[in-house]
This record gives sequence, C-alpha cells and structure tokens, in this order.
Amino acid sequence: MYRILMCAPEYFGVEYVINPWMEGKLGGVIGGAAREQWNYLHGVLTTVLGAQTVLVPPQPGLPDIVFTANAASVKNGVAVPARFRHPERQGEEPFYRASLRETGHEIRDLPDGIAFEGAGDALFYEGETPKPLLFAAHGFRTDPESHPFLAEAFDAEVISLRLVDPRFYHLDTCFCPLPGGYVIWYPSAFDSESQAKVAASVPEEKLYAVPDTDATAFACNAVGVGEHVVMNSATSTLRDRLSDWGFTTHLTPLSEFMKAGGSSKCLTLRLW
Ligand code: ARG
Repeated sequence: MYRILMCAPEYFGVEYVINPWMEGKLGGVIGGAAREQWNYLHGVLTTVLGAQTVLVPPQPGLPDIVFTANAASVKNGVAVPARFRHPERQGEEPFYRASLRETGHEIRDLPDGIAFEGAGDALFYEGETPKPLLFAAHGFRTDPESHPFLAEAFDAEVISLRLVDPRFYHLDTCFCPLPGGYVIWYPSAFDSESQAKVAASVPEEKLYAVPDTDATAFACNAVGVGEHVVMNSATSTLRDRLSDWGFTTHLTPLSEFMKAGGSSKCLTLRLW
C-alpha cells in the first residue's frame, strides 16, 4: 500500500516571500481555485492510483504547511524531521512531527542548528542499489552538515548536490527519481560538479534532462507511483519520453500552488 502525507489548503496563501516564485504574489492566491486543484490532485492519487492518504490538520497562520514534502525525509519507518531555514515555516514542525508519530515512524532528530527541509531536499533513488541511495541537496534551504546524519539514520549512501539557481531552491523542484531507477532533472539548477555526480550515478538511458519549458513549469516536481507519473504540466516531448519508459502521465494543474513555489511533489510526502 502506497501511503502519502498531505494537508488540505484550508489556510493556504502567499503571506510572505521566501522564494522567487512568491515575489509579487502576496495575497494573490484564489482560495477556491486552490481547493479545487488540491482536491483534483488528491482524487488522482487516491482514486486513479489507489494510494492511501494521511492528512495533517491544516493550521491558521501556517500557509505553507500544505507542502508536506518538507515535513521530513522518510524511509522504512524511519523519519528525519525538517528543521526549516526560515522562521516563517518553523511553526509547522510540531504538526508534521505529530503526524509522523501517529503513523508509527521512528523519529531521528538532527542536531540543533542544522537546517534541513525534508524530502524537498533529499530524494531516494528508486533503482536497484546495494544500499539505499539518497540524493541530498544543499545551497538554499538545507545545510550540507545534515548529509552525514542522513547517511547514518537511513544507512544510505548519500550523494551531495549543490543547487545554484534560486528558482530551483529545493531539490524536488529540479530532480525527480521515478520507479525503476529513472530520473528526470534540470541540470542547470546544479553546479557542474553535482551534474557530473548525477551523470555518474544514474544509467544514461534512464536519465532525462527536461527542457526549460518543463523545468519552469515544475515538471520535475512530479509524483511517481508504479507506472504512473503525476505532474503540474508536461510538454509532449517529456510525455513521449515518459511513455517510452512505460509511464502514464497524469496532469494535475496546480497554478495556485506555483504562486508559492510548489507543485504536486511538494504537496505530498511518501510514507513507508
Ligand atoms: N513556499 C514554500 C517554501 O518556499 C514552498 C515549498 C515547496 N516545497 C517543496 N518541497 N519544494 O518553502
């Protein structure tokens, strides 16, 4: 059973600016449209893909709590909860923690003073590897000092990647491991050393660099479940590539959430 943590956009909005997508969008979210888009995403995940969702109770004054990807990094029942960089999001931490506890996860807390933004910045490779392989980013929200801790907590090999483009401030905005060991990504969001690390870790025929149009529409912010990929939008070139790999693409437009710098992946966290 595929379980996903989500949070309904009851109090979602753009109320502060902590990434470039939020600039000029203060107060600009249309609440009804956001609820419709979120409901549609939830419906595709549960009805079409058969996933089960666990819901974090929405909280007034915490508009970004809808982005549950940032709650923690989770694998095999272990959760390393986020420590948000920005004070605006730190109030979300206890609510995420409560949901992770209630769902029976073993919580492993990072040492104080290290910023880490959960599955927003740490994504497990889904191909066959001797040890879990975790791609972990730093550069904007997450401190690289979190990476050795993640390696230990998950008994994983960690590949540290440096993000360099402020539009792609979280790893899950520009890098997406899919079932079967496939990966779609936007190379120019990374420094050249990190680009080389990715190219060395993922087989060439399973790695696809999306064009600018897909990258800026957050196509890499996708949710892969079995043979299905769910995303905000995709060019026909990207859809063809995914179909060649055996995936069916489901488009769930999330323009209201793009105003806050998030899309389908940001709105979900896979639980184990
Ligand atoms: N406004 C939120 C922030 O800047 C968006 C978070 C999107 N989440 C993600 N996993 N990329 O923190």
